[in-house]
Amino acid sequence: MREQLEKIKASALAAIQNASVTDALEAVRVGVLGKKGELTAVLKQMGKLSAEERPVMGQLANTVRAELEKKLEARKAELEAAALEAKLEAEALDVTIPGKEVEMGHQHPMNKVLQEVKEIFIGMGYTIVDGPEVEEAAYNFTRLNIEEGHPSRDRSDTFYFDDDDKVLLRTQTSPMQIRVMEHQQPPIRILAPGRVFRKDEADATHSPMFHQIEGLVVDEGITMGDLKGALETLIKRLYGEDAVCRFRPHHFPFTEPSCEVDMQCFKCRGKGEIDGQVCSTCHGEGWIELLGAGMVHPKVLEGCGIDSKKYSGFAFGIGLERMAMGRLKLNDLRLIFDNDVRFLSQF
Ligand code: DAH
Repeated sequence: MREQLEKIKASALAAIQNASVTDALEAVRVGVLGKKGELTAVLKQMGKLSAEERPVMGQLANTVRAELEKKLEARKAELEAAALEAKLEAEALDVTIPGKEVEMGHQHPMNKVLQEVKEIFIGMGYTIVDGPEVEEAAYNFTRLNIEEGHPSRDRSDTFYFDDDDKVLLRTQTSPMQIRVMEHQQPPIRILAPGRVFRKDEADATHSPMFHQIEGLVVDEGITMGDLKGALETLIKRLYGEDAVCRFRPHHFPFTEPSCEVDMQCFKCRGKGEIDGQVCSTCHGEGWIELLGAGMVHPKVLEGCGIDSKKYSGFAFGIGLERMAMGRLKLNDLRLIFDNDVRFLSQF
């Protein structure tokens, strides 16, 4: 029995040393020390031994078992450490490899210009307000002193929802003047940017959807001088101190007197032509129309419950795309709406 035990021990030790994965090690353990293992089988024969031999062999068997268990444990720890090492090796990150470049998006150039305009007016104490794009004809026209039959109410220019011509896609941001004044007494100082819609064919300077920024100031003693000051501040901040603009008399039903403001064409510098060719940016005018403005008509103030003897105000409506074209030196409005990344990524 002694030789048997020695043999089992020797072959088990060799098998333990040869096991290269923990599964193999476990197989060795079960094969020797398990219920049906070799050593267990030997122990089962213990009863056949003489009374003197039994304790000696019992002790030897226990020593062998203890030694094998210790070896199994040690080898297991060794294999696990090696496996961990291999795993770490395989998963190692080379932090010196250059990363994949992530392309960052950015604000649309027109939004950037809008943000600049907003900040200029916020700096002058204006509040930004927002209003509906689906508007009532009463706000878009009637209460702005644009009567029934006025050409700008024509179906060929305006997107109406129904045959009764009562609800429409706003053609201008000016209805925001009424929406603010009917709820608020002066002093009023607001800026209302937003989308507007007209039945225009798209070309270099027109689009059926475009953006306006409405401004309205109502208080005691407001004059045309205040209007000029506000708009000149805007133009100089946006285009630089040497920017040239002109105020031209005009007519709008909701302001009296009214004017339009143009900036000198940034392409031909006001000449209207480049190398003998008509300038395509200003169509030979030398000027680019930026906005309409004027002193709020007393009828409009009174219609909103504001005392026109006590208060006066000015209003303006800026074409945001026109403003952006000047700011970004674009000669075609459609570039702004095409959303071609080759264009957008330049800004
Ligand atoms: N709403 C006008 C337009 O779309 C622009 C305008 C002119 C706005 C004069 C105003 C204004 O507030 O006072 O052509």
